[in-house]
Amino acid sequence: MQKFLTFSALLVLTAALPQRNRGGGRTQQTAQQKAAQVPQGISQAQDGSMILDDTVTVNGLPLRFKISAPAAQFLPASGVPGAAATSSDGTLGVNVLLHGDGGQSFFDMPNQNVQANTMGVALLAPNAKLFWGGGQGLQRTDGVAHSQAVNDFIQNELPQRVAMNKSNVVFTGVSGGSLMLSGFFIPAQMQNYPNSAVELNCGGMPPQVDFQNAATVLPQTRIHYQSTQSELESLQGSIPQAVAAYEQLAADAGLNTAQISQLQTVDNTPEGGHCAFDGQGFVSGVQTMLTSYSNVMQGGNGVVQGLGAPSTGTVTKGVVGNENLQFVAARKREVERDAMIQMRWAQDVVEEPDFDVLICDRASCE
Ligand SMILES: *[C@@H]1O[C@H](CO)[C@@H](O)[C@H](O)[C@H]1NC(C)=O
Repeated sequence: MQKFLTFSALLVLTAALPQRNRGGGRTQQTAQQKAAQVPQGISQAQDGSMILDDTVTVNGLPLRFKISAPAAQFLPASGVPGAAATSSDGTLGVNVLLHGDGGQSFFDMPNQNVQANTMGVALLAPNAKLFWGGGQGLQRTDGVAHSQAVNDFIQNELPQRVAMNKSNVVFTGVSGGSLMLSGFFIPAQMQNYPNSAVELNCGGMPPQVDFQNAATVLPQTRIHYQSTQSELESLQGSIPQAVAAYEQLAADAGLNTAQISQLQTVDNTPEGGHCAFDGQGFVSGVQTMLTSYSNVMQGGNGVVQGLGAPSTGTVTKGVVGNENLQFVAARKREVERDAMIQMRWAQDVVEEPDFDVLICDRASCE
């Protein structure tokens, strides 16, 4: 994340900021407006890959995306220096991440490093609050439209920018992103992603829409649910419901219990709050799950390095017989509503009054 803007960038941004109210008060910026102040562009990932951060309109929705891949894998049209791909068909798979409410994991991009021959892509929810699926809590009122936009981005926009293996697209949800994936995207869109995998971190709910091609999708889709002992109250209810619903769908598709427990796994052993899988906090907890993503989702040994105690680290327990996750008593719902929204990135966005101060620091200002 860019903390320091150049002086000229500040002037440009200042001009673009919303007007002060005539009454003297200041218009409250939405999360989306704050996100617009975090510059897009091209930067370097932790592993030396290039991150392209840009926005494209999909089905009328503004979809801001980040693609993190080795420079040579980008198509020249992407504008990435060193782009050398000659076709949209490539060898790298894609791990598409949908953040939780408020957008934190879009800005962190914990999947930015290439892992198991898979590049990372993160998408920012196209609404004012930055909630995937819109609405709030377990009511994701725009889940259908948002899932369609995510699918259409992957199918139509991504291949115009980077060479990818379209037969190797996997998914990661965080909190609200997991609610949209389990509630809407898997039932409506997963038919377009053969042999895929979905890691549902700190969130999950049963399908909210008709399941398309369930008999084909369920036998070839790997699903892992990861939670913690002190999960949010509403999710303590909805994650086990998701586990039971997807298990039943797999049984209806003809899978036996051994097959189901191979494909669908669940764990919530770490002591910790919402998404604090390392026992520490939201950001480090989510990073911990993504650092060991291929171990859990792409045929690895099922071990997550750095998982919080008392977990052994092995998270791939089959769902059959483990549907009733044990949680510790939840906090009050008022506390919970705020805990679901993570916007630490916004602290790096300079608020309007601060611009004057910063500019005066760098230029004479009487
Ligand atoms: C694309 O991914 C599929 C599934 O992992 C794999 O079987 C295939 O060999 C890959 N293709 C290329 C060109 O790497």
